[in-house]
Amino acid sequence: MEEILLKINELKKQKNAVILAHYYVNDELQEIADYVGDSYYLSKIAVTVPQDVIIFCGVTFMGESAKILNPEKSVIMPDANADCPMAHMASVEKIKAVKEQYQDLAVVCYINSTAEIKKYVDVCVTSSNALKIVQALPQKNIYFVPDENLGRYIASKLPEKNFIFNNGYCHVHDEIMIDEVEDALRAHPGAKVLVHPECTMAVIAAADYVGSTSGIIDYATTSEAEEFIICTEIGILYQLKKNNPSKKFYCVNKNQICPNMKKINLAKVLYALENGINQVEVDLETREKAILSLEKMLELAK
Ligand code: 13P
Ligand code: SF4
Repeated sequence: MEEILLKINELKKQKNAVILAHYYVNDELQEIADYVGDSYYLSKIAVTVPQDVIIFCGVTFMGESAKILNPEKSVIMPDANADCPMAHMASVEKIKAVKEQYQDLAVVCYINSTAEIKKYVDVCVTSSNALKIVQALPQKNIYFVPDENLGRYIASKLPEKNFIFNNGYCHVHDEIMIDEVEDALRAHPGAKVLVHPECTMAVIAAADYVGSTSGIIDYATTSEAEEFIICTEIGILYQLKKNNPSKKFYCVNKNQICPNMKKINLAKVLYALENGINQVEVDLETREKAILSLEKMLELAK
């Protein structure tokens, strides 16, 4: 273990590389990363880091967004197959068809989407800025892709807008069941329920707090409560426990695991750094169109 860490640190210096990691990747990666955060934080930090090479411990859409925003940098994915299935659950044809149906329409795209989809949308959002951004849009009609659960949650907060939903979902969050949350609450009656908005509305209705991974960590860290029921991916426990060694965190089922985030490990980081493999490539036409929705997100979320 020690040897691999020494090699990674040495290569990082040699190659002028920085390591970014999402809260869902394995603990040892969060430990060695220079920056760990939610999707919004990682997209912002990717623009400001001075290094030439970004090693992105996350899934494809995260690396693609970093590359689109930083075409001059090398963005390397330690595992080229770590992809978010939800990112593929929207269709360009459907977007074009909805655009034809409504004149006063904004296509709002969760950042968990392919670069190809981002070419056809008006603005990107993440779970931490979606409400603020959709609220600020002048259009009344909102086509929200790809995640239906996040779309429904934002719609519930903005009754003045007319939402059209798309049937994408995250299997990790969608499979968290309300009866499992209720069982966990019966076992830990004083616990606060912290929920990611990719969960269903039934689970969201039981929440004491709904927010992004960073939001959940901040809530638990500043809360006076001692026990928390966690309705998101298990990787978040690393940071929750690190920040709050005396507090208790409970998951509600055994499947709160994103298999794609878990594909990445230290050996793959080292191999990618040594060999410069798995560079994210986004063609010029895609980049020039997709960047508009990402830049609009960064602007509106300020
Ligand atoms: P956050 O932006 O809240 O970190 O969420 C990313 C994600 O993939 C959730 O499943
Ligand atoms: Fe995608 Fe769900 Fe994994 Fe997040 S947890 S990367 S939404 S599959």
